[in-house]
Amino acid sequence: MSGSEMIGGNTCLCGVMGDPIAHTLSPAIHNYLAKTLGVDSVYVPFHVKKEDLKDALRGAHGLGIKGMNVTVPHKQAVMDYLEYLDRDAAEIGAVNTLVKGETGYRGYNTDWRGLGQALAWEGVSLTGAHVVILGAGGAANAVAYLCGYEGASHVTILNRTLQKARILAERMAEKFPDTVFSSDGILGWKKLTGTGYLCIQTTSWGMRPNEGKAVIEDEEFYQKLAVAADIVFSPLETKYMKLAAAAGVKTFNGLNMLLLQAVWAFELMHGVKVTEEIITGARAYLKEILKDEA
Ligand code: ATR
Repeated sequence: MSGSEMIGGNTCLCGVMGDPIAHTLSPAIHNYLAKTLGVDSVYVPFHVKKEDLKDALRGAHGLGIKGMNVTVPHKQAVMDYLEYLDRDAAEIGAVNTLVKGETGYRGYNTDWRGLGQALAWEGVSLTGAHVVILGAGGAANAVAYLCGYEGASHVTILNRTLQKARILAERMAEKFPDTVFSSDGILGWKKLTGTGYLCIQTTSWGMRPNEGKAVIEDEEFYQKLAVAADIVFSPLETKYMKLAAAAGVKTFNGLNMLLLQAVWAFELMHGVKVTEEIITGARAYLKEILKDEA
């Protein structure tokens, strides 16, 4: 489905810019929402290279593009060109959603709240939890911020490059003094002496084309977990999820996070409320698309 059958003189344009961009699912979700809610808008992918970001934003504003999602590699760089930067996005250090303002764009981050809502859907609360985050890249920043915001008691960040985990843990510890943030290399999981940890996998190791890989493959690690969430949704069941499920751990993928960050972005761009019923419909539609791709 696309919004193209409704294009007229009042149709507004939205889109997503990134490099690469060909495999984005955002147009499918946004066009579904526009059609279902009767919003006269079309959402398209824009292949924008790093060096063209500034021009792309000026051009987009000049053309009156109402809203835009921003993905790799622009999530940090775009912060230099905004009319307004939302506080949460500033603290995470990444922007994934732009809404047209008077003289430029207003920047937000909907990834973290998308994950927060997705966890709530699964009945998982971060408040008072000991969370283990695998990875310390862009996505891990949003996850760590969410953990602090929701009042996790401990957050252990494990990453191949220790320095990145350390910087992230230190940055978040300053913002959220009630949460204990610590960092280590991947093998740091061996120092986790308890059980019942809530683990969130944020690395690309396990995502297509690296399916069949997981940053930790040792069964003993998974026996320590109560919940294993992956922000990856392609494949729908990652190796990490398979290893966790084999240890009897509750698992889920990043599909709901993807959907819910898009729903929040849609609400910001169009000033409308998306109902639970519509979200459920969008989820079923998204699953169909991914089934076709599998
Ligand atoms: P994103 O914005 O999607 O988080 P990113 O910033 O490039 O992307 O971060 C990718 C994450 O996956 C990083 O934590 C990276 O570890 P490094 O910081 O050591 O690079 C992790 N990652 C990618 N490939 C990995 C692999 N083969 N083994 C372990 N970690 C990997």
